[in-house]
Amino acid sequence: MSRTAKRVVILISGRGSNMAALIDAAAEKDYPAEIVGVISDKADAAGLTHAASKGIPVKALERRSFGSKDAHDQAIDATIHGFGGEIVCLAGYMRLLTPRLVTEWAGRMINIHPALLPLFKGLDTHRLALESGVRLHGCTVHFVTPEMDSGPIIAQAAVPVLPDDTEEVLAQRVLKAEHKLYPLALELLAQGGVGMKDGKAIFRSASPFVSPEARLFSLAPHSAEVDVEALARFTP
Ligand code: GRF
Repeated sequence: MSRTAKRVVILISGRGSNMAALIDAAAEKDYPAEIVGVISDKADAAGLTHAASKGIPVKALERRSFGSKDAHDQAIDATIHGFGGEIVCLAGYMRLLTPRLVTEWAGRMINIHPALLPLFKGLDTHRLALESGVRLHGCTVHFVTPEMDSGPIIAQAAVPVLPDDTEEVLAQRVLKAEHKLYPLALELLAQGGVGMKDGKAIFRSASPFVSPEARLFSLAPHSAEVDVEALARFTP
């Protein structure tokens, strides 16, 4: 974490493995973001226990404790501000946010979705991928806009769909990619390498992620010998 790190609040509903990946990344020296709080709409979310064990402030805000969806989201917003959040990451947060909240955080709120958007919005993405017969599947990090899973795309990672894949096996392969992609995308946003303007993701060309050689997120360190397969799997 660097001294000018952006303050990030993560919203979860359950397991929190993407949240854990962001926490681990933020613990690295010079990472441009720090995780300052985790909010869950489920008091028993496993992710809350994990975040608390890492010394991160956590807060459960259950929908049933509030009279309306708007009141729930206002409490979430107040809690994000209470943590001093500057960026919000949705990581398996299983509720649609009100347009009011989304609009307030426009350009500063991102989500990870387990499919190559705009394919397979919503739930059951791995089943839909298998049923459709696509040979590539993956995950997307995008800015959050009021319409579900439709905001401007920041980064995507693709994985192969293999002939014998079950939903579970494919989900695991995508999840591994999610855990690499989300920290990269947050890094890009936190350092100002990407922003949202007129409903589009705008990349700052000075960013190391979008220089000509490093246009693609790669699993391998960049070198003159480009590993095309690794590059093709991490394409912003
Ligand atoms: C992930 O697949 C994420 O892409 C989706 O919900 C799942 C959450 O998993 N939005 P986890 O809670 O991060 O383990």
